[in-house]
Amino acid sequence: MGLFDIKNEIFEDKSVLRETYVPDELPGREEEMYDYRFALEDIKTGDEPNNILVYGETGVGKTVATRRILGALSDAVEDQDDVSFEHVWVNCKDKTSYQATVDTVNELLDFEDRIKGTGHSRSDVLNMLWREIDALDATHVMIVLDEVDSLGTDDSLLYQIPRAKANGHVDTMVGVIGISNNFTFRENISARASSTLKEDEIHFSTYDAPQLQEILSQRAELAFKDGVLDEGLIEYMAAIVAQDTGSARDAIEILRLAGRLARKHQDATVTEEHVREASEQLERVIVEKELYSLPTQYHVLLQSIALLQERGKLPARRKTVYNVYEQVCENIQITPKAQRTIHDKLSQLALKGFLSITEKNKGESGGKYWEYDLEINPETVNEVLDDVDRLSNVREETTLSQFS
Ligand SMILES: Nc1ncnc2c1ncn2[C@@H]1O[C@H](COP(=O)(O)OP(=O)(O)OP(=O)(O)O)[C@@H](O)[C@H]1O
Ligand SMILES: [Mg+2]
Repeated sequence: MGLFDIKNEIFEDKSVLRETYVPDELPGREEEMYDYRFALEDIKTGDEPNNILVYGETGVGKTVATRRILGALSDAVEDQDDVSFEHVWVNCKDKTSYQATVDTVNELLDFEDRIKGTGHSRSDVLNMLWREIDALDATHVMIVLDEVDSLGTDDSLLYQIPRAKANGHVDTMVGVIGISNNFTFRENISARASSTLKEDEIHFSTYDAPQLQEILSQRAELAFKDGVLDEGLIEYMAAIVAQDTGSARDAIEILRLAGRLARKHQDATVTEEHVREASEQLERVIVEKELYSLPTQYHVLLQSIALLQERGKLPARRKTVYNVYEQVCENIQITPKAQRTIHDKLSQLALKGFLSITEKNKGESGGKYWEYDLEINPETVNEVLDDVDRLSNVREETTLSQFS
């Protein structure tokens, strides 16, 4: 038998479990799709488009619903003489407003004409954008800014697009769809002068267990061979995810990982045991990603706390944490931040679920102090921090005497 003569008894079509797969139906999103259709109806009738703000937690179908609704709208107006509709999709993740504008322009240009992300003034790039929008020769253009909260406070693009026609920059009717999973971002928008975006807000809620069951069944049907999922497995998975994040992404990923595990162990069916292992794998990957993406100062702080943990010194008081933090800063030659800043950062880490903070009373004197403890697996912290260049040698180099 050849090394790769593997019988695939589990998967029928694994590709439907990929993030890029767009299903025909979106179970559990009927209301959201209705609101979305209502918000976009004006394009179909040839009127000015609404600007739409879509928000909700991660993995609740914002992107996939937007892809589906825009596809459906394009189909719907295809035979109409009075309306021609185009959309441009830009992912803003990890971009500045300037870069996002450059990307939008590039989406509209032929590959060989694309511009570089440097060397043009902001207003030049905007002018190019207006020109290319008109060059589409459509009556209606919607610009989708996915993960728009990444732009932070520099989100002027969100306001400039809706005003482009009124300001005489374009002849085309142009609107914007901003997609965000950051609720603070939404609050900030309403606090600002513009009410244009408030008009059509579509909120995507997290999925409950029955909704997740439907989503999982739909995928499992296509992805797996008949009868390989143990009875009640979908219900079990849906319950786990509903209790945790309510994210369809997590649910589908657990389904995929559980299938892989069954294959790896050459088991005939996918079992609850596979699901449990898959969900632990996923949890680890998510925590690692989140840890890795934190800014340097947080990494240094976590490293300090991990060092305390290794030496059995947790829970520790803020003063102790700060002390070790200063040592680590010295080791890697960065300037330590002030105590108060570090206090804020510790609170942030607690909000993210990496640390716990417990308030303690000093007893007789009545004073209070706080104790910090690590809430995630110290091994995960070490693994991630070992990959952070600056910190890779810190653990070996920080000696015990520095803790006394
Ligand atoms: N109702 C649904 N039915 C079927 N699949 C769904 C549904 N909702 C989400 N999904 C799937 O779950 C995954 C995550 O969905 P999506 O990317 O749309 O989430 P999102 O809300 O945009 O998340 P983020 O804020 O992280 O970008 C995708 O693979 C998507 O196809
Ligand atoms: Mg998305």
